Amino acid sequence: MKVPVSQPLLDDAEAKNVNEALAEGAISGFFGRFITRFEEEFAAYSECRYGVGASNGTTALHLGLVALGIGPGDEVLVSTLTNMASFFSVIYQGAKAVPIDCEPGTWNMNPALLEAKITPRTKAIMVVHLFGHPVDMDPVMAVAKKHGLAVIEDCAEAHGATYQGRKVGSIGDVGCFSFYANKIITTGEGGMVTTNRKELADKMRGLRSLAFGDSNKFMHKDIGYNYRLTNVQAAIGCAQMGKIERVIEAKRRIAKRYAERFAGHPAIELPVERSYARNVYWMFHIGLRGAFADRRTWVMKRLAERGVESRECFIPYNMQEIFIARGWTAPNECTVANDIGLRGFYLPSGATLSDAEIDYVGTSLLDVLGSAGA
Ligand SMILES: Cc1ncc(COP(=O)(O)O)c(C=O)c1O
Repeated sequence: MKVPVSQPLLDDAEAKNVNEALAEGAISGFFGRFITRFEEEFAAYSECRYGVGASNGTTALHLGLVALGIGPGDEVLVSTLTNMASFFSVIYQGAKAVPIDCEPGTWNMNPALLEAKITPRTKAIMVVHLFGHPVDMDPVMAVAKKHGLAVIEDCAEAHGATYQGRKVGSIGDVGCFSFYANKIITTGEGGMVTTNRKELADKMRGLRSLAFGDSNKFMHKDIGYNYRLTNVQAAIGCAQMGKIERVIEAKRRIAKRYAERFAGHPAIELPVERSYARNVYWMFHIGLRGAFADRRTWVMKRLAERGVESRECFIPYNMQEIFIARGWTAPNECTVANDIGLRGFYLPSGATLSDAEIDYVGTSLLDVLGSAGA
């Protein structure tokens, strides 16, 4: 059996919409009925007033930061354990990204560490709802309010996750989503920024499309970007909206089945779901512990031999050689993230997985751990 880490859930609905977009000749990101529809439907789903499509999750983050006025000399506090796209978006603006260590269990930003990192130059906090589990937002929002900081939610991995019953992406100033092929819903490549602030939505709409002028299109209003989501991508996105809850249910079912299988295992740290959270389990991410804490490469190799694909945890910002070489961070800056970064990895988690495939992965991992005398 071969089990990939993820596979998109696609059927005739996507093909039908794409064919309509093609037949209408609406293939760019400049016009087309699917763009507005997707923006409106996704924003409503995420309990936000506005949705601004973007070319991917990285450009969505960048648009959010530009609209919030983050620039050179500013500092942004960012969860260190993330896809480096979160950090890159801050660096594009010439701002300084300050890594914040994670909390054990959720592996999300630890809100208790924020205040010690605030300086007169701090302008914003970027949280990352990692692997589908929402960040503990109340303490983050309290710090932001106290110090007058903006809050950017990186929701690339957490569409539909809730914090205290509220959808992620609706709590901070902006929520930035990715629709890359392995995300909860996909448009192949694509992204969106959600917000309840009209002035930010208007600004982002202009910036994502070269900031064309109003009365004279070619008298540009600002230094813009071409970060447009195309109508063909949005056509796929509209079809995916009809599946989003089905995907989340599938992810939760997969997580439950794995968790039951691995419960109490001395070598496996399971993902959590805090009382405030609806975890959408984007990927079933586990930590090896005990005798296996430093044997991840070996375990992943043995799984691969059995046809089970897996992926290492992200490498935290403070461990990235390109940033250490610049003197921007040091390896020991975030020790909790370093620990999970070395022993964490994720198992196949695609919404298309059958029970038989989940059980095959489960048995394979238990065999691998058992065969080494766990
Ligand atoms: C946490 C996080 N932020 C940002 C991104 C960037 O999104 P994209 O690949 O669509 O640019 C990703 C994933 O790709 C991600 O996982």
